[in-house]
Amino acid sequence: MEDHVLATHLLEEEQSLEGTLRPQQLGEYIGQERMKESLRVCIDAALGRGEALDHAIFYGPPGLGKTTIAHIIAKEMGGTIRSTSGLVLTHAGDLAAILSNLQPRDVLFIDEIHRLPPVAEEALYPAMEDYQIDLVIGQGPSLRTMKLDLPPFTLIGATTRAGALTSPLRERFGLVYRLDFYLPEELQVIITRSARLLGVQIDEDAATEIAGRARGTPRIANRLIKRVRDFAEVKAEGHITQSVAQKALQWLGVDQAGFDEMDRKILLTIIEKFKGGPVGIEALAAAVQEEKGTLEDVHEPFLLQSGYLDRTARGRQITQKALQHFGKTSGLFSMDM
Ligand SMILES: Nc1ncnc2c1ncn2[C@@H]1O[C@H](COP(=O)(O)OP(=O)(O)O)[C@@H](O)[C@H]1O
Ligand SMILES: [Mg+2]
Repeated sequence: MEDHVLATHLLEEEQSLEGTLRPQQLGEYIGQERMKESLRVCIDAALGRGEALDHAIFYGPPGLGKTTIAHIIAKEMGGTIRSTSGLVLTHAGDLAAILSNLQPRDVLFIDEIHRLPPVAEEALYPAMEDYQIDLVIGQGPSLRTMKLDLPPFTLIGATTRAGALTSPLRERFGLVYRLDFYLPEELQVIITRSARLLGVQIDEDAATEIAGRARGTPRIANRLIKRVRDFAEVKAEGHITQSVAQKALQWLGVDQAGFDEMDRKILLTIIEKFKGGPVGIEALAAAVQEEKGTLEDVHEPFLLQSGYLDRTARGRQITQKALQHFGKTSGLFSMDM
């Protein structure tokens, strides 16, 4: 019970924090340069023609700015954003209710769109293609269907699992963007901006320190700056120097690589259970008790990109960098070489 209350409290705190720190305009959105350039052109063209922006889908691991960009697009288009999630849209009727209330150039944002049940997904097709929905009216012998025209609107989907989308749905999006992990320099800019908004003083090398451990992810960067601020307020009169940042991060248990629990579990499982690999994705998924697709789309990308994990023809393989991180430098590769 207490745990639950605490979890709810943390979630609320995080959500209101995301509210304050979330960029409101394309110009405030750091990084993802190619995506921003493309969106700038498409938004200006749609505005120029007085049309709705093409339907767009954003995919990538959690915390990289998918929800944020959806809000920015709605604002840039001068429309209102209606947010829902593939998890809650269980009836086609729920979707029809939302769709029929849209105004011209509104954005309908569907988070976790890969979780949309097939009935809701099928109801979306004519809405996306022709701005029309089929309504079912009445019951029994008086049952009939009616077409309802919708205003031109933009559907924005977000998903952590691009691989889990059906192809008919994917093909109906005119704009498809993959979000990449952020560079440390970009995270540093985000951290500096967030510190300013939170009213805390931070040195440049302190921001660098935090950026390097934020796992390429703005949400984590913001979470860390908030916790480091708490530490600095109590222990360092509210000024985050590099040494304060280092102490705070150590106190928080954030290691040099910024690994989360699942990162550690994956890497240590490969090292300890599979002699460093290669290990097939199915066997690895079973060992860490995670769905194969989630492992591939959500957890692996950061480890692959940052060089802690290799993907070979024979499976996943640990790297020297990972071994060094865990202080396990000897023996593992000798049998393979
Ligand atoms: N490009 C960005 N520039 C600045 N801050 C960002 C950026 N992307 C995300 N953030 C911050 O990270 C937080 C999490 O982003 P969010 O859009 O909720 O991620 P996602 O929907 O992909 O999980 C946001 O509240 C925002 O403060
Ligand atoms: Mg989101």
